[in-house]
Amino acid sequence: MDYIEKIKNIVREKFSSPPKANVVTFGCAQNENDSEKIRGLLYSIGYTMTDSIEDSDMVVYNTCAIRENAELKIFGNIGKLKALKAANPDMIVAVCGCMVMQQHIVDKIKKSYPFVDIVFGVNNLEILPQLMCSRYTENKKQILSPIDKTDIVENTPVLRSGKSKASISIMYGCDNFCSYCIVPYVRGRERSRKPQDIMAEFRQLIADGYKDITLLGQNVNSYGKNLEENVDFADLLRMLCTVPGEYVIHFMSSHPKDINKKVIDVIRDNPRISRQIHLPVQAGNNRVLKEMNRRYTIEQYMDIINYAREQIEDVTFSSDIIVGFPGETYEEYLDTEKLVKEVKFTQLFTYIFSPRSGTKAATMEDNVSYKEKTVWLNRLIKIQQDIVFEHLDSFKGKTVTALVEEKHGESDYTARLANTFVVKFISNTDFTDQFVKLKITGKKGTSLTAELLK
Ligand code: SAM
Ligand code: SF4
Ligand code: F3S
Repeated sequence: MDYIEKIKNIVREKFSSPPKANVVTFGCAQNENDSEKIRGLLYSIGYTMTDSIEDSDMVVYNTCAIRENAELKIFGNIGKLKALKAANPDMIVAVCGCMVMQQHIVDKIKKSYPFVDIVFGVNNLEILPQLMCSRYTENKKQILSPIDKTDIVENTPVLRSGKSKASISIMYGCDNFCSYCIVPYVRGRERSRKPQDIMAEFRQLIADGYKDITLLGQNVNSYGKNLEENVDFADLLRMLCTVPGEYVIHFMSSHPKDINKKVIDVIRDNPRISRQIHLPVQAGNNRVLKEMNRRYTIEQYMDIINYAREQIEDVTFSSDIIVGFPGETYEEYLDTEKLVKEVKFTQLFTYIFSPRSGTKAATMEDNVSYKEKTVWLNRLIKIQQDIVFEHLDSFKGKTVTALVEEKHGESDYTARLANTFVVKFISNTDFTDQFVKLKITGKKGTSLTAELLK
């Protein structure tokens, strides 16, 4: 807070009108949640937010390291700032997030992108005002090397992007070390926030009118493991559902090795929890899963899917899949196709394996060409498309509740079901950010069409 006050005065003297900041997020929902905190800090300092880089006095790139193409895209974006910075030397360029939790990336930025003023990692966002103070008062770049910091800082200011949708990080880091994944190396060890801090944030969101809340963590099902309190994820869900109001709770990601019947029972007993469960399976073959260090089998995965189907009417599943893991054969890939056809996910995020330096899988022998992997990926995408059409058709004639997201033109609206399907409808009244009842009339592309009931 001291540094916020200090930099506030510096900024007030430096700029005749409120300076503008552009915070750009790459990567997952957890990074987007961090960006809302970065915007909150900048807003407290006196910045207004802009979507235009050309217009900005400060640009922050919150980066992702999950796949190589994510990093290449980010370097491309940073490179484009060179000319802008030359035209406006007062502009601050900051790079933060998962990518700069790798020393070789920080070294590359120092060497090849000398116009970057500030670099800071993922677990110390609150240091930004201090770095800005030093940047302005000492006129020195502030390029931090990755640090291993595990304490949780509460009460960082937040500037939310949405009016009805919001996310809450319930935990940080990851201890699972799936053999392909960089996240445990860049986000550090798993730690959970105290339930009372999460409850306070949740209550505030509901009081502020938020209606769609997503609980975030790399493995929400291991929530609570490091806490003094004896509380697990199912307990947390149950506590949250005691808060009165009209809202829906989502959570992501669930790890199939840790999700249990207790969580499924809590979902069953609390209609405010979304009936869509994101349960990343990654592969349909047990040998590949073992090599991935996922620590469950397809049989165990199907057991929990079947239990959820028995207990929760209308339950659906979404998932993440990696094709072309090192050593995966065509026959093993076909097991993934088989699983996808069997579970019939409503949404599937599919990726080609990308070797990440420092992970175990990056050193494994990989005999399948990228071209071949692309063929597998496209096959899977096509299979999933047909499954989505089937799901869309099954909605015809049903009455659903959806949260209205956007108005297009005079009277066209899009709303979203809790299972993330988009519904298009016409209304003379603006119900944006409210729940409406709709009767599904059909489908158009990958969206549903509906009549407004209420
Ligand atoms: N913690 C989540 C879980 O275990 O399901 C996943 C988090 S990760 C941010 C999102 C997804 O990226 C993963 O589920 C996986 O499918 C994909 N992913 C991670 N590392 C990858 C890699 N090296 N190559 C391709 N996809 C990868
Ligand atoms: Fe990565 Fe596995 Fe952790 Fe998910 S659970 S973030 S895939 S290491
Ligand atoms: Fe998320 Fe990318 Fe980091 S997926 S956790 S922002 S590496």
